[in-house]
Amino acid sequence: MKTRASPRRSLSGELLEGRRFLLAALADVPEERWAQSPGPAYSPVGWHLGHVASVQARWLLPGEERRYGDFFDPQQTAKPSRRELPPARELRAYLDEVLDKVCAGLDAGRVPAILGLPEDFLVQHLAQHELQHGEHIQVIAALAAGRLHRMPPALRLRSADRIEFPGGRLQIGCADLSRAYDNERPLHEVELPPFWLDPAPVTAAQFVQFVRTGYGERSLWSDEGWSFLRKNGIFAPLRFDEQDPDAPVTCLSWYEAEAYARWRGARLPTEEEMEAAGVEPSGVWEWTASWFGPYPGFRPYPYQGYSFPWFGTHRALRGGSWATSPALLRKSLRNWYVPDFREFPSGFRCAGDL
Ligand code: AVJ
Ligand code: FE
Repeated sequence: MKTRASPRRSLSGELLEGRRFLLAALADVPEERWAQSPGPAYSPVGWHLGHVASVQARWLLPGEERRYGDFFDPQQTAKPSRRELPPARELRAYLDEVLDKVCAGLDAGRVPAILGLPEDFLVQHLAQHELQHGEHIQVIAALAAGRLHRMPPALRLRSADRIEFPGGRLQIGCADLSRAYDNERPLHEVELPPFWLDPAPVTAAQFVQFVRTGYGERSLWSDEGWSFLRKNGIFAPLRFDEQDPDAPVTCLSWYEAEAYARWRGARLPTEEEMEAAGVEPSGVWEWTASWFGPYPGFRPYPYQGYSFPWFGTHRALRGGSWATSPALLRKSLRNWYVPDFREFPSGFRCAGDL
């Protein structure tokens, strides 16, 4: 796990750091493209920006009237309507104004809080929210430039040996109540049987043989996986021919990761195994065998919809991608996507029982 550069930044400093990351992500996206649709899976970059400001205002300026109504609420505005955006200059001003007001309040000691959580939770949550949308913007920029499939860096040389773990009882989750998302809580014990894990994600070079022989082999695929291939005419990960052989294979669905593991006589690791192993991020979000679900005793916060709606239908991913802020990289962090999603920095490694 990476440690944060400055664990005792001021509250406004946390938000400013989130903003710095968001603006750096934007450097690759000229304003003329803010309203463009990056494809059916994503909202335009400009919508992400308004959403960041609007969510920050909702939680950290609780008395204020909502500037654009429900437009920047993902539950209220369907993706196709998200292109009718305010002009770029107005979006920039909105971002600036909300942050300025919030920081003025925080610096004056007015900290909006949630009952039962540390005083700085909401600020940390909003700072992390901004970092996550900064990741989306980088992914959208890479997708638009046709280089998403080339983004994961080549793996540094590693031993080919699998790593063995004795298992046993261990704690899963995040103890830091200021920074933990609701889905990382509560901290709880699990009992893991002994297992092995690949030392690194599967590379494009390692995936080649499976592309040649595995995609047509019905017995390697789940029913859902097979119909996903047929329905979408999929014979390889996105733009596989152009992927760097020495980098993690990327832009593939959960179904493809699962079938590869079966082909190799292995399986995907569970989330708990990935967490127990303290896997270091290698440039891709790694699919796991686990559904994204609630830990025992789960309680939603700061709102019902942050994690709850996705439980049981999305697969959990671990690690972190080339676009993830280092400030988010704690070993309990969870990500989640539907199993047929491929247009993001996905990847995986194999595991097995000992
Ligand atoms: C954790 C990346 C799946 O972007 O859908 C952002 C994070 N939640 N705003 C997403 C999130 C609300 C979430 N992921
Ligand atoms: Fe969001």
